[in-house]
Amino acid sequence: PFQFDKERDAEFERLVKRYPTRESMILPALWLTQEQEGWISQEAIAYIADRIGTFASKVYEAATFYTMYNLHPMGKHHICVCRTLSCWLRGKQEIIDYMRDELGLTPGKKTEDGKFSLEEVECLGHCGTAPVVQVDGEFHENMDVEKFKSLLATLK
Ligand code: FES
Repeated sequence: PFQFDKERDAEFERLVKRYPTRESMILPALWLTQEQEGWISQEAIAYIADRIGTFASKVYEAATFYTMYNLHPMGKHHICVCRTLSCWLRGKQEIIDYMRDELGLTPGKKTEDGKFSLEEVECLGHCGTAPVVQVDGEFHENMDVEKFKSLLATLK
């Protein structure tokens, strides 16, 4: 069954003392889980709820509200494409379409070989250089399909 490893367990205990209510620990606990496992399973949600002393539905609600939490196992390389206004106006859909056509990859899924997973996310905070793609946490700005292709080619 899921539980925090030693390091995250200690971090949870350290943080819980700093927050005004135990429920404010929902987001940090989700983050610790994602750091540890790469994604957040139903089992992990139940564990967090238990650990905090709240309802699993509350933890689930937070996990589904924020797009930075992954509720599915990720591929070796995780790709986030911003879907908010600037990126939308400046062609994020062409990048999404490219992944669908070339890799059979759609948002919320991973490729059959497990190499890539894709998520559409809300504004990544770099709207001036839209469209923005984040791969394994790194930002790539002013993207277009050609640049994106070259980027994919560098990923092993
Ligand atoms: Fe895409 Fe802000 S709208 S980074």
